[in-house]
Amino acid sequence: MAVRILSVVGARPNFIKIAPFVRALALATDSLGTAQGCQSDRVAKTVSHVLVHTGQHYDPNMSASFFRELGIPEPDLNLGIGSGSHASQMGRTMIEFEQVLLAERPDWVVVVGDVNATAACSLVARQCGVRVAHIEAGLRSFDWTMPEEINRVVTDRVSNLLLTPDHLADENLRREGVADDAICRVGNIMIDTLEYERHAAASLDPREILIRAIISSAPYGEPSLAIPSMHNVDLICAHDYAIITLHRPSNVDHADSWQRILQAIRAIATEMPIVFPIHPRAKARLAEIGLWDAACRIPNLLLTQPLTYRELLRLHMSARVVLTDSGGLQEEALILGKPCLTLRSNTERPATLVENGGTNRLVGTDPINIAVAFYEALGNPCVPRRPPLWDGHTAERICARLLS
Ligand code: UD1
Repeated sequence: MAVRILSVVGARPNFIKIAPFVRALALATDSLGTAQGCQSDRVAKTVSHVLVHTGQHYDPNMSASFFRELGIPEPDLNLGIGSGSHASQMGRTMIEFEQVLLAERPDWVVVVGDVNATAACSLVARQCGVRVAHIEAGLRSFDWTMPEEINRVVTDRVSNLLLTPDHLADENLRREGVADDAICRVGNIMIDTLEYERHAAASLDPREILIRAIISSAPYGEPSLAIPSMHNVDLICAHDYAIITLHRPSNVDHADSWQRILQAIRAIATEMPIVFPIHPRAKARLAEIGLWDAACRIPNLLLTQPLTYRELLRLHMSARVVLTDSGGLQEEALILGKPCLTLRSNTERPATLVENGGTNRLVGTDPINIAVAFYEALGNPCVPRRPPLWDGHTAERICARLLS
């Protein structure tokens, strides 16, 4: 009998996580397989799959470029939700998604990560009596000011099957009273995509990536405003460089945190050039608070459009250090063996931390702390580290469990 699976994506990190799942599902359809990590199970013969995009991210370079590059099929349905407050995004998603569920009647709804689409659709599914599987379950920052933490807790609470990346996530769920048989440790699906795309990324030319995406870059001694300069592209291609990405509201929504972060960027850029692929939210807030021009004038800072998955991976592979508030980059830095400075005071991904044998330091947004951690990181070379089951085969284990 066919198993009917409906999976949901809404925002950029979801696309990276769903790509290997969609691929593994297509392969599993005609095979009788077994899986490691969960109990070995026979895989069902036929699967029907519907992919729903809530439309939370809609800019071509935040959405379509990821579908194209990662080989994700066109979504069967796009709810066209777009931007808005949390309440309006989630409310509109829930209303639209309920209609989809009533029409499709799947056996499982599969949600990934911790974005608004994840929580909104898992709630509706559970209310409609459809089983929910959550990929990347059990992560906890214990920081209730983060919308993502609320989304994680809500999603896990209503999910029937909690697919976790590591034993720390299992422990979080057990502490919350989740039954053992609802937890299935499958590994980290982000790393499936990293391993799958690594080869193609390695063949990209960093110079071409930067030239395509550059917005602004000011070389030393020549403060320029939004004038793309090849000088920094050449520096980056020839020497050590850092990458920075930021999008968390706590970092990018306030003038004072931007002041601190720009001060840190200014200091680090005296040591090495910095590539900053800027998220639309971060760019819009910088402009609103009147600091965009100041950012464009920082010597040795190269601002770019959001990059594709492979482009960012290529630049990450050759970077000396990464500064970020993204969860995915903390994990990728671990696998690539890159020092990662996380501009937050907590992380839901403790397996990546230096104190747990990883490459990631929590540095907050104090410019002195960031600079000290930057020089410490330069003095302590990192080696790649791979937690158990972060092996590129997580999606296969998920499919085996779902189709059993
Ligand atoms: C969302 C997720 C976050 C994830 C991040 C990755 C939630 C609560 N947050 O944050 O967990 O790490 O995506 O990028 O779901 N915008 C555009 N074009 C787009 C998308 C967004 O211009 O394609 C701008 C809009 O001004 C929008 C703002 O970015 O209001 C914020 O977008 P939103 O989807 O609400 O949250 P993110 O900050 O992207």
